[in-house]
Parts: sequence; C-alpha cells; structure tokens
Amino acid sequence: MGRFGGAFGKLLTDAIKQRRWLFTGVMVAQVVAMIAGLVQPTLNSLIIDNGVVAGDIPYVERVGAVMFAVAVVNFVGSMAAVALGSRLSTGVAKDLRSRLYRHSMTLSANQFHRLGTSSMMTRTMQDVTVTQQSVFMVNTVAATGPLITIGAIVMSLRMSVRMSPVIAVAAILMAIVVGIFIARITPLAVQSRQAVDGLNHSLREQLSGTQVIRAFGREKLVSARFAESNERLTALMRRVGALQALLMPVVLVVANLTMVVTNLVGAKLIDSGHLTIGELTAFSGYLVQVVGGVTMLMAAAAVIPQAQASASRIADVLETDTDTVSGPAGNRPTFAAPIEFVGATVQYPGAELAAVSDVSFTCAAGEVTVVVGGTASGKSTLLALLPRLVDPTAGAVRAGGVDLRSWSMPDLRERISYVSQDGSLISGTVAGNLRLAAKDASDDDLWSALEVTAAADFVRERGGLTAEVGQAGGNFSGGQRQRLALARAVLRGPQVYVIDDGFSAMDPRTATSVLKNLRGAASESTIIVAAQQITMARVADRIAVVDGGRLVATGDHLWLLDRCRPYREMVEAQSGVVR
Ligand SMILES: Nc1ncnc2c1ncn2[C@@H]1O[C@H](COP(=O)(O)OP(=O)(O)OP(=O)(O)O)[C@@H](O)[C@H]1O
Ligand SMILES: [Mg+2]
Repeated sequence: MGRFGGAFGKLLTDAIKQRRWLFTGVMVAQVVAMIAGLVQPTLNSLIIDNGVVAGDIPYVERVGAVMFAVAVVNFVGSMAAVALGSRLSTGVAKDLRSRLYRHSMTLSANQFHRLGTSSMMTRTMQDVTVTQQSVFMVNTVAATGPLITIGAIVMSLRMSVRMSPVIAVAAILMAIVVGIFIARITPLAVQSRQAVDGLNHSLREQLSGTQVIRAFGREKLVSARFAESNERLTALMRRVGALQALLMPVVLVVANLTMVVTNLVGAKLIDSGHLTIGELTAFSGYLVQVVGGVTMLMAAAAVIPQAQASASRIADVLETDTDTVSGPAGNRPTFAAPIEFVGATVQYPGAELAAVSDVSFTCAAGEVTVVVGGTASGKSTLLALLPRLVDPTAGAVRAGGVDLRSWSMPDLRERISYVSQDGSLISGTVAGNLRLAAKDASDDDLWSALEVTAAADFVRERGGLTAEVGQAGGNFSGGQRQRLALARAVLRGPQVYVIDDGFSAMDPRTATSVLKNLRGAASESTIIVAAQQITMARVADRIAVVDGGRLVATGDHLWLLDRCRPYREMVEAQSGVVR
C-alpha cells in the first residue's frame, strides 16, 4: 500500500470514512459479482462432462438454468458496483469542489495571490475530476482485480494442478506487458496534463486580453504562441493514443498464445486421462479471468501517479491555513471614534521596498479624506488595511484606540463598504449586484442608492433594476460600472466607506458631484477615497498626500498648495498650468 500513502491515500481514506455505507455497498456488490463470475466456468465444465459427453439432456437443462441465474447475479452485481461506485466518486468530487471553494474564501489576499487564480481554477475543476476518476477506479477495478486473479487461480488449481504452470506464466507475462505500457504511458500522461495547464493559462490570458491584443495588432504573434502550446499537447496526445492503441492487440496476442499453450498441454493431459474436456474448457475460462484481473489491476495502478499529483495539489490549498487573525465573535468594532493609522507599514512578501512605510494619520467620522498620489505610491495598499485585505507588517491601524486585528473579522467587514479599483461587478442583474451588499433591501432602497451615485438614470434607460449585467459588468462603461459599485457600497449603509480609485473612470464633474452626494447621504460615516485626480481633493475635508509609500503631508487644498511641493506639482501637471 506504499503508493496509496500521501495525499491521495489520505483523501481516499477520508472519503471512505465519510461514506462508509456506500463503500460497503460497492464492495458487497463486487464480491457478489466476482463469486458469480468464478462459479461460471466450473458450471460449464459440469455441463460438458456430465451432460454433453454423457448425453444427459435434463442435466444440461438443469445446470444450464443455474448458470443463467448465476449470470443474472453477476450482471446485477456488476451494475450495482458501477452505479454505487460512481455515486461514491462523484460525491467525493462534489465535496472537494465545495471545500476548495469555501476554503479559498478564507485565504488572505497574499495567500490567494501565491496560489494564483488560474491554478485555483485548474485545481477546483481538473484536479478534482482526476481525483474523482481515480477514486472510482480504486474502489471498483483495483479492488476486484486482485480478488478475481487470486480467485481464478485458486479455482483453476482445484480443476487441475498439472495445468498451474501455464496459468502462472500467463499471469506473469500479462503483468510484464501491461507494466511496460504503463511505465511508458504514465510520464506522457503527466506531461500532457501539464501541457493542458499551459494551454489553459495562455487561453485564459489571451481571451481576457483580446481587445488589447487586437489593439496592438499582435494577433499573429499571440496565435503563434498558442499554436505552439497546442502543437505540443497534440504531439503528446498522439503518443499516448498510439501506445493505448497498441496495448489491446498486444494483450490479445499474449492471451491467445497462452490459450494455444493451454490447449496443447490440455490435449496431452486429456490423452493421458488426467483431465476431462469440461475441465479444460473451465480452465480456459479461468485463464481469461486471470488475464482480465491482471489488466484491471495494472490499469488502476496507472492512475495512481496522476491521482497522487492531483490530490497533493488539492491538499496544498486545503492545508493552507488562513494567516488572517481575527478577534473573538461579538467583539464588534465601532468607528464612532476616529480611525488612526499609527506608523502603519506594509511590505509585500518578497518585495524589496515597503509599499506603505510608517504612515500615521487620523480620519474622523463625518469627514471625507482623500488620499492622493501618483501611480504605485501605495494608495491601494493603504486603503486595503481598513477592511484588512492586508495587515500591517509593522505599526497598526486602530479604531477607537483598538487595533483592528482584535475586532471580530466578519463584524469589521460588515461595517465597512469597500469599493475596489476594478469595480468588481458580477454577471446577473443590477438588483442582484446591489443586493450583494444588503440582501433584504427593498427596490426603493436600491433606487435611492442609485440616485446617490448618479446611476439611476442609466439604469432606468436599461430597463430598471432587472437590467442585465454581463460578465464583470462588461456591458456597462467604466464610469457606469464604478457608479454601480458605489451604489452597492451605499446600500449597505456602512460606518466607513473605503473607495479605492472608485471615481477614476468618471469625468471630473460627475466624479465630484457623486462624491458630494455621497457625503450628504452618509454624513455620519467616515469616507476615505484614494485618487490620482486632484479634482477629487476639492471635495475633501482633508487631503493626505502619499509618495513612494510615505505620507508626505495632510491638510486642505489651499494649505497643501502653499506648503507641499509634490501636491503643487500634481495640481500643475493635471491642470496643464505651466509656471
Ligand atoms: N500583491 C502585491 N504584491 C507585491 N507587491 C505589490 C502588491 N500589490 C501592490 N504591490 C506594490 O506595492 C506598491 C504600491 O502599490 P499600490 O497598488 O498600493 O499603489 P497605488 O498607489 O494604488 O497605485 P495605482 O494608482 O496605480 O493604483 C507598488 O510598487 C506595487 O508594485
Ligand atoms: Mg491603486
């Protein structure tokens, strides 16, 4: 059982433990089918020796009826084994998919990033499918293979000990032939799975970047790259296919050769009176079963390396414990008191420089704070500290004097509406997207949220709340998507708004008017906005200027214009005024 250890072994034992009855059912059905199968050749030999040769027709009819009944048992048993076996394996697959899905939700942004989105999809779909097939194989074919082989050998020995060398040689020969094939096919199969991974990856990247690829006139280059991965996969598949096509004929040749030897040896033994014709027939029947049993066993052994690889990729995710700490449930934060950044520093794993260094400032309820700064200045990272999408590597963020990490995480997130840089709409309807924030909100609530963010007009034009939202909101303009995302944030009625560049795709007039509306509608909330456009700062009660991850200054527009050079430079650059 050495090869059954490791990730797949653990997964398999867990699966069996959870579905003990189903597993027992599969095994019982198989043993029944197997015993019925093993009885057949013996019944056959009885019919020939005592019925056909002796001319006893009633005997032939009687034993024939028994044989028929046994055949029915064999059929029913085999069908039940397959049906229960696939119930078992599809159930295991379903569990794995939902466990992977639920578990991935608990991972921190960093952990998710390390695993990678593409790989998470492959793990959830392809690796689970491979595992499902392997669980099926191991529970059915791999379990019966050795039983049938041993059973058939024992039964044939009972028939004739003198014939036993033939069957032993046949079993060994089969094992060698099938073994060679498997040794050659397995690495190819693993390689072709990697090739599929690669193809998936480039396909995903290219499909999502189609517009950009077209815009740059790079279709040819990209197609060539795709063709290359495609070619590689095809070549591998061809080799696997060729080997598989060869396996069957070779197995048949070996089986037929042993059959010839059996008949030669058998004929001699019949001549010398050591064997009957019926026994020889039965012996041939057992020989076929031994060949089948060995082939089944080897086929099941062939899936183990792949199953092992897939299972450990799955375990890799499931065993990644979330590195997010959370305070006890019921430890509810309050943001009535100011939020303080105290020497907050964030250094991403593997990064040489901190994305945010030693930032200290305070934002109070009822105020709008706009964090301005150039690209890559650390705005998104700074804002992500509030809903704890990242945690500070040094320093802290506090609310009411208490570190955010000691509040209960779900309660913390419930009080914050976070709008990400890309809007994050999902396919469905406008109402469906908005109700992600508040599932029981009435239509009136939805409309008033849409009014706040100047989205009501275009939603009405699209036919109202049931208007369709395409994948990632692709059927809306960038600015419309942002206004829908903001409306979703408003609907929650949070204590804190964290808006990361949520206005960047709107023209300056719309952007500032939406932010003003928001301030009016959420006058008791803390609003923090990250922006590259200086115009947003006009609406701010307080502006925080960041540059290279550091907080350069805080103040209002006029003060900063006067005292803060980076700010002044940004204003000049964006207004087109040249000194
Ligand atoms: N997940 C991450 N892993 C490693 N480095 C990161 C990660 N996210 C951001 N960074 C780095 O941290 C720095 C700050 O990035 P951040 O996204 O906070 O900037 P930003 O001010 O929001 O920029 P933009 O205006 O372009 O959105 C950048 O140098 C960026 O490369
Ligand atoms: Mg950003």
